[in-house]
Amino acid sequence: MDKPGNSHLHPYRAVITGHGSYAPAKVLTNEELAKMVDTSDEWITTRTGIKTRHITTEDETTAMLATEAAKLALAEAKLKPEDLEIIIVATITPEMVFPSTACFVQKNLGAKKAWVFDLAAACSGFVYGISIVQQFLEAGRFNNALVIGAETLTKITNFKDRTSCILFGDAAGAVVLERKPDGLSGVIYSTMHSDGEYWRTLNCQAYGSRHPSPKPLDNPDMVFMEIKGREVYQQAVRRIVEVLEACLDHCGLTTDDIKMVISHQMNARIIESAGKRLKLPPEKVFININEYGNTSAASVPLAFDECVRKGLIKRGDLVVFVAFGAGLTWGANVIRF
Ligand code: UT7
Repeated sequence: MDKPGNSHLHPYRAVITGHGSYAPAKVLTNEELAKMVDTSDEWITTRTGIKTRHITTEDETTAMLATEAAKLALAEAKLKPEDLEIIIVATITPEMVFPSTACFVQKNLGAKKAWVFDLAAACSGFVYGISIVQQFLEAGRFNNALVIGAETLTKITNFKDRTSCILFGDAAGAVVLERKPDGLSGVIYSTMHSDGEYWRTLNCQAYGSRHPSPKPLDNPDMVFMEIKGREVYQQAVRRIVEVLEACLDHCGLTTDDIKMVISHQMNARIIESAGKRLKLPPEKVFININEYGNTSAASVPLAFDECVRKGLIKRGDLVVFVAFGAGLTWGANVIRF
């Protein structure tokens, strides 16, 4: 009972019982991007670690990707959609302004009983979602939950801006969590943070209430994501290190106890640099940005799913999810799988 990381025993925990991910079939390579903007495979690879990204066609939408990932997670959990009690879709590229993407996913799955909503915390959306359902499941408000991170960022990417268009891809990842008596597995600890002072470093300004669609935009590029890469880079390394140190400290853990850190994939150099500062050996820091690029809220569940399928994480292992993104927002979940 006193395994590391279980110092805060709770009678019930939110246990991950299923996981799945989905990326659209179409792939965009660095070489193809180099024909669209002034860049090169060499620059993109050395500065970001990205080689390819999966991109949606015009007909593929966020709810479609989310539904596919959800079906896989539900099948693995052996949970029927009609028994689902809550669905959270973390996204900043929703199906439409309203209704929520989660309502479309509920309809697609036939999850009639579920209470559903979207969560807009950019790249941190999935870890925020895990933190929310952790509270609900521990408290007994729900018995199960589906948390999805799903994005179609390439639909708000300016493919004329070489500083941003090389970074992003489309995907979805999902996990089912169930309320189970404490048998040492489950979400152990979550910590979340936000700082709106830095909203300008990463944003997409059209078409919210500040710039509604009927009003002409000051600049037509406001329909696209705008990033201040250097500022994001520095903040990201700092916040990821801070939040991981806080998690280890709070749970009475050291890096030796952790099997894998699953970080939001924003740039391989950011992840590696944070890992080095924490003295984490490279094999404990999972990276799959080379194939998918930055998929915002989808990236942590996508990486987690791949890690489990590759046998890099097994039941009983301690893993940490960590994310950082627009807002600014950042946070982490410590989980015994
Ligand atoms: O999940 C959160 C969202 N993610 C982010 O916001 C990304 C965080 N930031 C980053 O990943 C990095 O800052 C970038 C990959 C965006 C940029 O890498 P960097 O090492 O910070 O480069 P930089 O912005 O300092 O630019 C270095 C040079 C500049 O040229 P000069 O001024 O030195 O002549 C840029 O114009 O690289 C140039 N550059 C490029 N060159 C070739 C910028 N983008 C490209 C490009 N290809 N795609």
